[in-house]
Amino acid sequence: MEALELPGFWILLKIWTWIRDFVLSLACPSLIPDTDKFGAKIKATWEIPGPTIWRPVLGDALTLNKFGGPEKLLDYISSLHEKYGPIFKTKLGPQKFVFINHPALYEEIFRPEPNYPIRLKLPSSEAFYEKHKIDRGIFCRDGKEFCRGRTIMAEVLLKVAGQYMETLFDSVDPVLKRLMDHWTTMSMETKGGHIRNIEQDCYEFFIAAKMTMTYGQHYETFLSQAGSSVKTLASEAIKLNAATFDLNTHPIQIATGFGLKEYDEYTLKNLETGRKCIDIALETMAATGGSSEEFGLLHRIKNVYNASDEEMRVYFTDMTADISDQVSLTFLWILFSLGRNPDVQEKILQEIEQVCRPGKNVVYKDLQKLPYLNTTCKEVFRLFSTAQLVIRKNSNDVVLGGYNVTADYAVILSSFSSHKNPSFFSNPEKFWPGRWLGEERDVDTGEVKRSENAYYPFGMGKRMCAGKLLAYNLMKLFIAKVVQAFVVESDEVQKKLKIMLYPNGDMNIRLKSR
Ligand code: HEM
Ligand SMILES: *[C@@H]1O[C@H](CO)[C@@H](O)[C@H](O)[C@H]1NC(C)=O
Ligand SMILES: *[C@@H]1O[C@H](CO)[C@@H](O)[C@H](O)[C@H]1NC(C)=O
Ligand SMILES: *[C@@H]1O[C@H](CO)[C@@H](O)[C@H](O)[C@H]1NC(C)=O
Repeated sequence: MEALELPGFWILLKIWTWIRDFVLSLACPSLIPDTDKFGAKIKATWEIPGPTIWRPVLGDALTLNKFGGPEKLLDYISSLHEKYGPIFKTKLGPQKFVFINHPALYEEIFRPEPNYPIRLKLPSSEAFYEKHKIDRGIFCRDGKEFCRGRTIMAEVLLKVAGQYMETLFDSVDPVLKRLMDHWTTMSMETKGGHIRNIEQDCYEFFIAAKMTMTYGQHYETFLSQAGSSVKTLASEAIKLNAATFDLNTHPIQIATGFGLKEYDEYTLKNLETGRKCIDIALETMAATGGSSEEFGLLHRIKNVYNASDEEMRVYFTDMTADISDQVSLTFLWILFSLGRNPDVQEKILQEIEQVCRPGKNVVYKDLQKLPYLNTTCKEVFRLFSTAQLVIRKNSNDVVLGGYNVTADYAVILSSFSSHKNPSFFSNPEKFWPGRWLGEERDVDTGEVKRSENAYYPFGMGKRMCAGKLLAYNLMKLFIAKVVQAFVVESDEVQKKLKIMLYPNGDMNIRLKSR
């Protein structure tokens, strides 16, 4: 046991660090160490506060276990931020981490960001892709390969998207209407309007919506020709997240020893379905020409960016196989939040009726006119951002908060923690869309708190979420339709982290037709 062989002076140093941090924390609890690019002494890595790691192999996993294991990672991180301040270091398993939760430190990570910032790769997933020789899209890529993909995706999904968002979202309208009709029927059939299997419904809706945007109106035909369906993809996606979590919370040797068959089976099947759909779509496009209205984003990428067929397979397979969880779970958190806040439902409805007209089918074009709907969405992402941790793996040593953070550390931005910090948001636990409309003021000074720079549900910088606009607009349309059709009720639920933010147990949602 290495821990027992620690030389005495290391222990003394540790004790000294504790005493120093303790004294500092009394003197100035929110102390952000001065970083001076112009000559101030940079503090050494070992000086970054954090729990003492007595077991080098396990890291601080035992403390994490006391909180309830990896599912309670957020509580563990919060408690350490509380104890050590805005920057601390720890080690979980073999990986060393520096956690930060202050906007000034986020700035320090993103300002000097290299052209190809790197995310920490999950070793078990990586081993899996390698074993099966699977090439993944931009989320998993690095370097020049990443850059070309990112440029195309950012152009298509973020930059010029404004020009055709309307077409895209109007094509999704019938899919959303189908979901509302389904829920109307369900709510009449069940006692108290309880919607059974609401998770499956949310997944199916998002998969249908993104398939429509990607492949256009023929997506169901493409899927059936590829031997799958929206229903199957949804139930596979739900099981897959649990398997991914199991895979990555175990060392790869143990994980493969367990024979995580579900992971193998569903990942491979979904990726294969994705590739087949793209091939079928490309063939159909080649045969008929077609238009972007008919064939969605795929047509645009092929014709505007001259992407090769293989590039399209790589970038768009992920659209079939992944990103279902973030969005589908967000729909659940939206229903939950609306259900807990009847006044918010009423305000949204009033806004729609005033700005549009009562009963109007809200479409993409209306969204710019609905600021309260907009901020409801922002508030959902503040409290229930499904991607709670933004991760960077520096290729060089960096200076963060005045400390030398060496390249063997992964840096995690605990955005979930800054989203709930009372220094940036008054009454942070409260679901309060009005806070973004200038209602939020400091109780004592009357100042509006500057919260935007503490708010990062989609990450930031060069690897910020490429689907941010799609996600935002889809959420807004979803909220508008739900509120127009139903009064929502929900029961309190605990949260857990399974890579993404999940309800701990079934979400109990009741929908009552208006
Ligand atoms: C609720 C919805 C969503 C949330 C909360 C979310 C959140 C995130 C976050 C936090 C990241 C990492 C950003 C960073 O490291 O700085 C990310 C990356 C990414 N997201 Fe999303 N996302 C959502 C929906 C979507 C959708 C709908 C798409 C696709 C249309 C998408 C595509 C991507 C891609 C491609 C990346 C990787 C970007 C890169 O590595 O350059 N996301 N997302
Ligand atoms: C499109 O790419 C192909 C190769 O992938 C190339 O042969 C062709 O010249 C390119 N066309 C344009 C207009 O850039
Ligand atoms: C919605 O929120 C975004 C992000 O804060 C903002 O840029 C945009 O102007 C808002 N739109 C409306 C209609 O309020
Ligand atoms: C950071 O620490 C590494 C490893 O000890 C060292 O090589 C590097 O020079 C240090 N950088 C700074 C700026 O102190």
